[in-house]
Amino acid sequence: MPNYFEMPAKGRPDARQYAPATERNRDPILKVLLEVLPPEGTILEISSGTGEHAIYFAPRLHPRRWMPSDPNPVARESIATWRQEVSVDNLYPPIALDASEAPWSVELPTALKEFDLENYPIGAIANINMIHIAPWSACLGLMAGAGRILPAGGILYLYGPFKQNGQHTAPSNVAFDESLQARNPEWGVRDLEAVVAAAQAENLSLKKIYPMPANNLSVIFQA
Ligand SMILES: C[S@@+](CC[C@H](N)C(=O)[O-])C[C@H]1O[C@@H](n2cnc3c(N)ncnc32)[C@H](O)[C@@H]1O
Repeated sequence: MPNYFEMPAKGRPDARQYAPATERNRDPILKVLLEVLPPEGTILEISSGTGEHAIYFAPRLHPRRWMPSDPNPVARESIATWRQEVSVDNLYPPIALDASEAPWSVELPTALKEFDLENYPIGAIANINMIHIAPWSACLGLMAGAGRILPAGGILYLYGPFKQNGQHTAPSNVAFDESLQARNPEWGVRDLEAVVAAAQAENLSLKKIYPMPANNLSVIFQA
């Protein structure tokens, strides 16, 4: 588990992980999600991490269904344990999904029935704070998967820090980028232009960019 969530869940002796940033960014993110998401259907969350976003967003985005995922079993256990805390009927159990692999589990023929995707098709994908804390192949895989899965008009919501025109947008992002690369040379704050180009290569067009608190961006793509 990356040390983003090494902190135990507020001293609770169970599998719940706790990432303090989620409490700070969840309301600004929710505001954008409410603006850009389709009014119904399933939202696939890639890299759900602790699951704190999933349990916060699902009840507030009803009647949409929220499908959390993460390749890390420790994260999935955290999501599943947080999920037991809330009584919502529109939050799926977490699924194992590595964005850089293909096909994604939700594309398999068995998934249609397993997740009732015929009645509740995936109309949007949300990805928060992953592409800078993963190799570039994860971003490429995210775009490729979104290109394969999303219907025409479907939305890819991306959140995180970005460089613009090759420049960091704040001194805090310079330090953050350095700390990421020290942890893993394949990680790092991405160039927005490169991310947009990767999306366009998968027929996803840039729809809107929202400046967010703490020098982050919400970047909206449409299939
Ligand atoms: C910094 S955490 C962000 C978690 C959560 N979205 C949040 O904002 O709190 C990064 C997450 O990306 C996940 N991740 C890393 N590589 C991935 C990949 N190739 N595909 C999907 N998720 C990945 C990690 O397991 C981790 O849960």
